[in-house]
Amino acid sequence: MDLTPEEERLLESDNDTVKKCMEILVALGEIYGAERLVEIKSAQISGISYRNIGDAGLEWLENLDAKVAVKSYTNPAGMDVERWEEMGIDCEFYEKQIRILKAIEKLGVEISLTCTPYYLDTPSFGDHLAWAESSAVVYANSVIGARTNRESGISALASAIIGKTPCYGLHIKENRAPEIRVRVGREVNPSIAGYELGKITGSKIPLVDFGRPLSRDELKLFGAALAASGGAGMFHAVNLTPEWGDFEVPDEKIEIDQFQIDPECDPDLIAIGCPHTSAEELEKILALLKRYGRVKREVWVFTSREVMRKNPGIVGEIEKFGVRMFADTCMVVSPATERFECVMVNSGKAFEYLPKLRGVNAVFGDLSECIRRATE
Ligand code: F3S
Repeated sequence: MDLTPEEERLLESDNDTVKKCMEILVALGEIYGAERLVEIKSAQISGISYRNIGDAGLEWLENLDAKVAVKSYTNPAGMDVERWEEMGIDCEFYEKQIRILKAIEKLGVEISLTCTPYYLDTPSFGDHLAWAESSAVVYANSVIGARTNRESGISALASAIIGKTPCYGLHIKENRAPEIRVRVGREVNPSIAGYELGKITGSKIPLVDFGRPLSRDELKLFGAALAASGGAGMFHAVNLTPEWGDFEVPDEKIEIDQFQIDPECDPDLIAIGCPHTSAEELEKILALLKRYGRVKREVWVFTSREVMRKNPGIVGEIEKFGVRMFADTCMVVSPATERFECVMVNSGKAFEYLPKLRGVNAVFGDLSECIRRATE
C-alpha cells in the first residue's frame, strides 16, 4: 500500500495507541488489496455493550491513549444510562458499562449511543466514512450514497483515531454495482423482505424493485434486515436510491412475493426501534396508540437520546399509554431482553438476532400489528 510520509510517521509513532491503530489499518488494507488510505468524514464505533465485550474489552479500551481525528459516534450500549434500573439491569453491569463509556469518551468519541447516527448529522453523497454498525452502513451507502465498508468495532476505532480508512470495497464506485435483480411484491413488508432476501442472496448487492414508493424509514428497516440475515453492505432500489441507475442491470433475477414465518409465540414483550426510531416513526406509534388505546403488555420503544431530547412532547404522550421509552440501547444489545419468553418486533433484524443473541423467541408483525397486539 502507498503511504504518505505522514502516514509512515504514524506507523513509527511513540504513542502506542496511534501506532497500533495505523498498523491495523495497514494490515487491513494489505489483506483487501487497498492501494492507499482515504480520509473519512466520520467514524461509528460498535461493540461497546459490556454484554458483548466483557472485562477484556473494557480493560483494552481503558488502556488506549489517543484522541480521535474525526467526528466519531458510538453504537448503542447495553442499557439506558438513565433508566437502567427500570430495564432490570444490575449494579455491576451498570458500573462496568459506564466505565466503558468513560474510556471511549476520553478518546473524544461522542457518546451518541445510537445505530442511526445519520439522524444526528447526515453525511453527504460521496463522503467516505468508517462505520461499523451494519444497518447504518447499509443506510449510508444505499440511501445517502456515502461510502463505507462494514467495519468492525476495532477497525472503526482505528480509523477514528487516524482519520482515514483503507480505500477498497465499497469506497470504490465499480464495487458498488448490483449483482442481482430482485422484485419485491407490493404487499410484502419491506423489513421482512430484507430478512428473506438476505438469506437468499448473502452478501450480494441487490437492485430491488419494490414497485411502489418507500419512505426512508422503510428503506432503513429493509436494509437493516438485509444486512443481518445476509452480509450485504448496500442495496440499490429502483427510483428510490441515488446510484441505482449508474450501473448495468444484472441478468440474474429473483422475486420475493411471500414469506414463511415460523409458528407464533405469545409475546410478553413488544419491542420497537431496531434500528432506533426516527421522529416520524414516533409520530406513527403515537397515532396508533391513539387508535388502539392503552397497552396491556410490556412495550419498549428504543430511540437515540438525541431524537428523544428533540421530541419531548411525543415521547411524553407515548409514555402516557403505558409504553416505556428507552434511549442509548436496544432489545438486541441489552441483556434486559433475556428475561422475556417471547418478543414481538416489527424489525427483520431483531427477528433474526433476538433468538441467536438473547436466546428468546421472536415473532414478527408490522408496526400496526405490534401496537394492536400490545393492547389485547
Ligand atoms: Fe440498532 Fe440494536 Fe437494531 S443496534 S440496528 S437497534 S440490533
